Amino acid sequence: MINDLHLGNCLEILPTLEENSIDTCITDPPYELGFMGKDWDSAGISFQKETWEAVYRVLKPGAYLLAFGGTRTSHRIAVAIEDAGFEIRDIICWLYAQGFPKSHDISKAMDKKARKEREKTDELLPGHSEGRNRTFGTNGIGIYGEANESVAYKTIPATPEAELWEGWGTGLKPAHENIIVSMKPIDKNYVNNALKHGVAGLNIDGGRLPTGIVIDPFMGTCTTGMACVLEDRDFIGIDSDEGYYEISKKRVAAVRKIQPQIKMDI
Ligand SMILES: C[S@@+](CC[C@H](N)C(=O)[O-])C[C@H]1O[C@@H](n2cnc3c(N)ncnc32)[C@H](O)[C@@H]1O
Repeated sequence: MINDLHLGNCLEILPTLEENSIDTCITDPPYELGFMGKDWDSAGISFQKETWEAVYRVLKPGAYLLAFGGTRTSHRIAVAIEDAGFEIRDIICWLYAQGFPKSHDISKAMDKKARKEREKTDELLPGHSEGRNRTFGTNGIGIYGEANESVAYKTIPATPEAELWEGWGTGLKPAHENIIVSMKPIDKNYVNNALKHGVAGLNIDGGRLPTGIVIDPFMGTCTTGMACVLEDRDFIGIDSDEGYYEISKKRVAAVRKIQPQIKMDI
C-alpha cells in the first residue's frame, strides 16, 4: 500500500489501511463548488464527518491533517473535520492573488434581458490579455485546472439601466485559499505521544527530514505525492478519477527518469 497510488473511492480504500499507521495527511479535497461541472465536486464528501473519521482512524495520535479549502466552503470542511474528532489548531492562508473572478455582470444581464446588443470596444477587460489566459483558484487550481483561452473586451451598455449598473458584479477576485491545520488528539501527553507514536507537535525545520508516511485521499494529479517524492517521503495516494490517476502515474514516471531511486512503487 505504501508508496503506491490507488484508483478508487477513498471511503472504500482508507478502511483497508492499518489503524494508527500514518504520520500526516495533506490533502486538497473537493471544495464542493461544482468545479467545471465535475460530479466529484458536488457529492458532499468533504462536508461529511464520516470522510474525516476514515482519515482519523488511519492517522497516528498527534498526527496532523492539513486540508485545503476554498474561501466559500472551507468553514464547512473545518466543521466536518472537527466533528470527526480532530482538534482545529490553525489556518494557513495560501495567498496567490492571481485568481480570476467568476462574477455575474449585472449590467450585461440587464441588456440581455432587454434584448439589446452591446457595442464591443477594443479595450480588454481587467485580468485579460492577448494570448493565453489561465484560470486559477476556485476556478481551476494548478495542473488539474483548465486554461481559459477566451479574451474578453469591454462593451458599451445599451440601455440606461445597464449604464447605471455598469461595473457591478457578484464575486470578488479569488486571492487566497485556507489550509485547515488540525491534529488527531495526542495519547496522554506530548512526551508519551512522541516516544510511543513518533509524532508530536510541529517542527517546521525538522519536518523537512525524510521520515514518516504521508497520505492524500484526494490526490488528483498527485501534487502532494510529487512533493513527497522530491522530499524522499513515503506516500499513499488515492483518487477515484481514472484520468487524474493516469496523470499522477505519468508525473511519477517523469520524476523517475531524473531520480531513478525514488521510493514510489509504480
Ligand atoms: C481538488 S481535487 C485535488 C487536486 C490535487 N491537489 C492536484 O494536485 O491535482 C479533488 C480530487 O478528489 C477526487 N475525489 C473526489 N471524491 C473522491 C472519492 N470519494 N475518493 C477518492 N477521490 C475522490 C477527485 O477526483 C479530485 O481529483
